[in-house]
Amino acid sequence: MPSPRERAMKPTDLRGILRYVPMFRDHVFVVAVDGSVVAHENFLNIVTDIAVLRSLSIKVVLVHGIGHQLVGLAGEHNIALSDVQGEGVTDASTMSLAREASALVSQAVLENLSQAGLRCAITNAVRSTKVGVIRGKDHLYTGKVEKVDTALLKSMLSQDVLPLVTPILCDREGLSLRVNSDHLAMELAAALGASKLIYLTPFPGLQVDGQVKINLPEDDLKRLLADKNAKLDPRIRSKALQAAKALDQDVPRAHILDGRVFGCLLTEIFDKVGLGTMIHANDYDRIRQAKKKDAQALYNLAKHGARTDALVSRTRQQIEQTIGQFYVYEIDDSIIGCAALRPYGDGKVMELGAVYVQPFYHGRGVGRKLVEFAKRRAKELGARKLVALTTQTQGFFQSACGFVNAAAKDLPAERRAELKASGRNSQVLAFPLSRLSDSVR
Ligand SMILES: CC(C)(COP(=O)(O)OP(=O)(O)OC[C@H]1O[C@@H](n2cnc3c(N)ncnc32)[C@H](O)[C@@H]1OP(=O)(O)O)[C@@H](O)C(=O)NCCC(=O)NCCS
Repeated sequence: MPSPRERAMKPTDLRGILRYVPMFRDHVFVVAVDGSVVAHENFLNIVTDIAVLRSLSIKVVLVHGIGHQLVGLAGEHNIALSDVQGEGVTDASTMSLAREASALVSQAVLENLSQAGLRCAITNAVRSTKVGVIRGKDHLYTGKVEKVDTALLKSMLSQDVLPLVTPILCDREGLSLRVNSDHLAMELAAALGASKLIYLTPFPGLQVDGQVKINLPEDDLKRLLADKNAKLDPRIRSKALQAAKALDQDVPRAHILDGRVFGCLLTEIFDKVGLGTMIHANDYDRIRQAKKKDAQALYNLAKHGARTDALVSRTRQQIEQTIGQFYVYEIDDSIIGCAALRPYGDGKVMELGAVYVQPFYHGRGVGRKLVEFAKRRAKELGARKLVALTTQTQGFFQSACGFVNAAAKDLPAERRAELKASGRNSQVLAFPLSRLSDSVR
């Protein structure tokens, strides 16, 4: 249980949270809760977190699992289960227990939602079909998602009704089938164009070699899933697989969180660092050319950089006039780093400048990614050489980014004069773009 200090929220914390309100307004989050998390004492806190999300106009669809309760019922009735997670064969007696388990879990969820004052409804908006025979084996009552009635779900959401979807779904003939809840949540997130697919599990997140991965780019996740030696708990692997599928279908983020931790949902969503594992589109997809609307954010970054003399001071107007030269690194719609490419003369030589990463994000590879991106972009734009002028970060450009020493005489006359007039006495570094292999990107 959290200490009173952990529970206490300062009114000023609201300022930070309010930034995110317009960002997620009217977005859909699909939250899938493991059966064991519904049974955990923290579940009421999760429901309270969901109530907060609803009050911020975030539309939540809730899916629950039943594995934990199914195992419990099987023990009580002394019945051997043919499958627990809804991925293998579901025989008739397992199906019968699964229906019972689902009814128990749904009722527990409804009780908690009612306690939190949330309007909700169990829905048959998802239709299932039998998985059928796979490699010669009839999977009997195991189903998969056939169709999602998005119109029904959206009308519920627009009326402030939280849809609760159980992993016992009906097929076209009204036959109940057992569906894996991770798969169900992924299909819902994809069909509804959700911004987030969130798995609340009894695990600290996705662990590799005992370490929880906080941020995991899509490609790294796929590499991990393909690695036969990677030791992933099967229940986490199932969520990771579905998360990868969700990202393939344009769900931008999937989260695997510890549902036993107080405030897990709100911390993950509203704290930059988060709490469990966030799987996101690949890092390079986070870098984009700056737009006019980014001028203020870029000005703020440049101002911070200029304070320590690491960056040349720039006015907002100067930034606006050269906005096309800037590239930004974004996390959750907020700009946390930038770089600029300025062409000289015929564009064969370009200057890489204004490389800045917010101190909070230092040492996480953002700076290097920005520089690597800029190298490739400069090459695409026809440059042969990239130069960088730096007063404090020779080490970064040389050791981490492969730049070599150059001299002021390597700069065009106009830039040389500008440098002299600035009195900055910057060191000139260069990177020959011929060294970049064309295979990258
Ligand atoms: C320089 C800066 C962009 C680096 O960003 P970052 O995101 O922290 O860098 P990364 O995490 O990508 O670091 C990559 C590597 O460079 C090293 N590095 C980072 N800053 C360094 C520095 N000032 N000197 C030497 N090495 C440095 C890191 O240790 C890391 O090495 P590793 O891969 O061996 O662990 C960032 O510190 C910054 O914004 N500084 C203030 C602005 C500035 O000086 N800009 C340059 C003006 S042109």
